[in-house]
Amino acid sequence: MAAAAFLGGQSRLKAGCGQNCPPSQAARRIISTMPDKISVKIDGEYIEATAGQTILEAARTNGKYIPTLCYLKGLSAVGACRLCIVEVSGVGRLLPACTTPVQDGMSVTTNSEKLTRYRRMAIEFLFSERNHYCAVCVSSGHCELQSMAQKLGVTSVGYPYSYPLLPVDMSHERFVLDHNRCILCTRCVRVCDEVEGAHVLDVASRGIRSMISCDLNRPWGQARNCTNCGKCVQVCPTGALAEKGWAVEEMTKRVDNITWLAIRRGGNQ
Ligand code: SF4
Ligand code: SF4
Ligand code: FES
Repeated sequence: MAAAAFLGGQSRLKAGCGQNCPPSQAARRIISTMPDKISVKIDGEYIEATAGQTILEAARTNGKYIPTLCYLKGLSAVGACRLCIVEVSGVGRLLPACTTPVQDGMSVTTNSEKLTRYRRMAIEFLFSERNHYCAVCVSSGHCELQSMAQKLGVTSVGYPYSYPLLPVDMSHERFVLDHNRCILCTRCVRVCDEVEGAHVLDVASRGIRSMISCDLNRPWGQARNCTNCGKCVQVCPTGALAEKGWAVEEMTKRVDNITWLAIRRGGNQ
């Protein structure tokens, strides 16, 4: 429901006399700050959402689960992993919930056989594109890619493995960047830019050659702008970014702390 219509019905005197009189200053302020409430159907249930929210935000606010990998509350959404795809009635293709805004009257399906099939495919592609040997990974047991595969019932990969020859950047005094485990979610890039303000990390090249790069393609240890804050390590969903010398049991990540910090600094709620 539009804020003005809502207010008009509730408080005609304050909002204006109803005969073309302009609303008072206070009423204008209320109208401009009131969030527009809209009605959206998610999995057959009507929920109230706020105009401007994404499908993912509206779903989560109402306790509905949609799987994600690249999304992190507090950071901008980029729609990189396609795990959060949903079906929207009347739209012929699947849409990423993390970047698609809700619209009044929208009907969304978040869970179906088709969606599970596509989500499994997305996970299988991620495994086949790089070298993920969980048994020798420092993040095994704490890895979002691994746990998402388990949650979606991915037990094998139906695509040929690329086995790319990728480097491991050990040049930083505290951290390791192992490109073999990277799923190019860009959480590290966004947290370094949007929360730390250093913008050391970025994505270089395109397509299958895309790689995380430091300070315009320097070894990480020579990146002059890196503050050694470690935020990138904490948000990395896999073992691509890790603390040097930490054992598997130690290498748990504190993603919630970064989300809290990002929201305090004005990031997406
Ligand atoms: S340690 Fe901090 S400053 Fe350095 S790359 Fe990671 S997030 Fe950026
Ligand atoms: S290094 Fe980690 S956080 Fe950065 S893009 Fe790769 S998987 Fe994502
Ligand atoms: S979480 Fe939406 S595309 Fe990755």
